[in-house]
This record gives sequence, C-alpha cells and structure tokens, in this order.
Amino acid sequence: MKSKIAGTGYYVPEEVVTNFDLEKIIDTSDAWIQERTGIKERRFAKKGEETTSTMGAAAARMAIHNAGIETEEVDFIIMATLSPDYYFPGAGVLVQRELGLQKKEVGALDIRTQCTGFIYALSVADQFIRGGMYKNILVIGSEMHSMGMDMTTRGRGISVIFGDGAGAVVLQAVGDEEKSGILSSNLHANGDFAEELAMVSPGSHAGYHEKNPAKYGAEGASVYDSVFITPEVVENGLYFPYMNGQLVFKNAVIKFTQTINEALAKTGKTKEDIDMLIPHQANLRISQFIQKRMGLRDDQVWNNIQRYGNTTAASIPIALAEAVQNEAIQRGDLVCLSAFGSGFTWGSVLLNY
Ligand code: ACO
Repeated sequence: MKSKIAGTGYYVPEEVVTNFDLEKIIDTSDAWIQERTGIKERRFAKKGEETTSTMGAAAARMAIHNAGIETEEVDFIIMATLSPDYYFPGAGVLVQRELGLQKKEVGALDIRTQCTGFIYALSVADQFIRGGMYKNILVIGSEMHSMGMDMTTRGRGISVIFGDGAGAVVLQAVGDEEKSGILSSNLHANGDFAEELAMVSPGSHAGYHEKNPAKYGAEGASVYDSVFITPEVVENGLYFPYMNGQLVFKNAVIKFTQTINEALAKTGKTKEDIDMLIPHQANLRISQFIQKRMGLRDDQVWNNIQRYGNTTAASIPIALAEAVQNEAIQRGDLVCLSAFGSGFTWGSVLLNY
C-alpha cells in the first residue's frame, strides 16, 4: 500500500490588495516590495465572513470533487496552519464541521510547523495510509495572515509579504502497481532558530527564553498571575510576528537545496528528472536562488507568489492545485514539494503525480 494525490483544490479570497493599496496605509513602495520579494498583490479575507477554516473547507471541497469521491469517503483530516480561528481547539475540527464530517466523527489533527506545515502534514498522512489506517485523508493548508498583522510602518518588513488563502489535497491509498504515489518525505527542524521567525505572544513564556526578541519582564510573577496577554504584550505589539529577514534568507537557500537533493538521492533521481518543483512561496528571490543553484529551467519551477504573497502552510497546496489546473503538471510527472520556514523547519516530498 502507498498513497497518491487523488485530487487538488484551492481557495483564495476575492479581495485583491496590491502594493499600491499598501502604499496608501504604510510607508512602503511597489518598487521596494517587488524588488525584494517579487510580490505584486495578495488576497485578504473578508473579516467576519471568512476564516482560516472556511477557506480550508472551500479548498477541501474542490480537492474532494477533483478526486472524484464523496465527502463521506474522507476518513481523516490533517490541517496545517499558524493562523487558526481559535487559540484552541485547532482549526481541523472546524473544517470537519464546515464539511459536515462531524456526523461521521472522523479524526482531525492540527499541524503547527508553519511554512513547512503542508510538507509535515502530507508526510504524516502518507504514513497513516502506508500503515493501513485510512484510505482517503484530507490534507489542508490554510492561512489568514490578515487577521493580525501590524499594518503600520512599524510592521512593514512583514506585512507586505504575507497573504491569505488555502489549498488542499485528497491523499488516497493505492496499490503498489499504481504509477502515482509519494516516493519520499524528508522532515527537519532546528529549534536554535525558534525566535528568528516567530510570534511569541500570547503564550506561556513570560520572558523565559533568552533568545526571545520580544523578551519582557515577568520577574516577580507569582504562580497565580496570568502571563498569556499582559499589558506589555498589548502595549508593545508583541502579538505581531517578528522575522530576522536576512537570516531567514541565508538559511532558506541552503536548506531548500539540501532537502531537495536529499529527496533525489534517496530515490535515485536526478534534478533533470524533476518535471515540476513547487517550492514554498516564501519570496520570489529565494525561489530564483534555488532554481539557479540547482540549475533548473523556468518550466521546472512553479511560482505564484507574485499574485498571492506568502501564504505559509497554504502556499504549496495552492501552487500545486493551480499547476494541475493549468495542466503544467500531468499524471505521472515527477513533482518535488519543498519548504523552509519558522522553527526553523524544512523538508521535502518527492512524488509521482
Ligand atoms: N517598504 C519599504 N522599506 C522597508 C520595508 C517595506 N515594506 N520593510 C523594511 N524596509 C526598510 C527597513 O526599514 C530598512 O530601512 P533602513 O535601512 O532605513 O533601516 C531597509 O528597508 C532595509 O531593511 P532590511 O530588513 O534590511 O531589508 P532587506 O533588504 O533585508 O529585505 C526582506 C527584507 C525582503 C524580508 C529580506 O530580508 C528577505 O528577503 N528575507 C527573506 C525572508 C523572507 O522572504 N521571508 C518570507 C517569510 S518566511 C518564510 O516563508 C520562509
């Protein structure tokens, strides 16, 4: 038994926010954003009407339709996001409810490995299928970054990069004779870099971690004090994401390349065999760097960050679904998915589509 991607789907909100729109509210420019990131526009969700889970469910419906199965045939859900509807429970159960799958009481698991979330989620789903536990697993990546970014000049290094959206696949159990299937998954992390790309509050840390860029004093706090959302957190905007952009860039280009090569080496494939590389859409400059370093042609790499910005866990499944929709990927093609991000975490999945 192995697993194959039976169907793909994606959803992006209608509201297009261009760099020119951002120029009106923060001190930035279309030229700065395009030069550094390649991004021209992104989508922002309609507050109060769309959430991380409703977008995830919309992408899931398309993936289920394209897989040619009924929703009731889904027997497990894995949801990757760093921007859930609630602090708890996770967004997986909310997607389950949106899809009407609560009637079947199928399990719903949330994955929290940020930009690498979809890679981790896919690899967990693959193992459940190989172990014979499930037949059709919905694997979703969904993000609503616009729910909480610093849309002032203070937050411009981050807020111009991220966008909202969701992507999903149905991962299905198939026999060994089937040509399509996941060939290799590779997962990595290094917690030394945890605070270099992070949103540290609200949380339990109360200033404990030495490397916390948003360290605030909780000296003298008693066991009865609530440290989750303190006045310091609110006053200093510590609930906004922080990114050491240059460090992220340096590590990303190395780790992306390493983990793609790792997937190729494990399966006896070469870079010439890759029909399509779908890198996590972190930054067009990062993707171009990897392409150049690996010596890949333009038609071997899919980029859509220009239109959607960085959608973290959603970026790979959105790009995959779009590439399939555009017939840039055909059944049997060798597809490499790869991501790097907060944690730091990174990894790759190599598959025959
Ligand atoms: N518009 C205009 N100016 C800006 C903006 C903005 N949106 N953001 C920052 N600046 C200014 C800074 O204030 C600074 O000004 P100063 O020199 O007067 O102090 C100047 O631009 C340079 O700032 P840096 O942060 O040094 O900018 P840098 O050239 O490093 O570019 C960037 C920032 C694009 C984030 C870059 O570091 C990068 O590409 N990093 C990779 C990280 C990344 O892409 N992450 C994506 C998300 S993480 C992931 O998915 C893996």
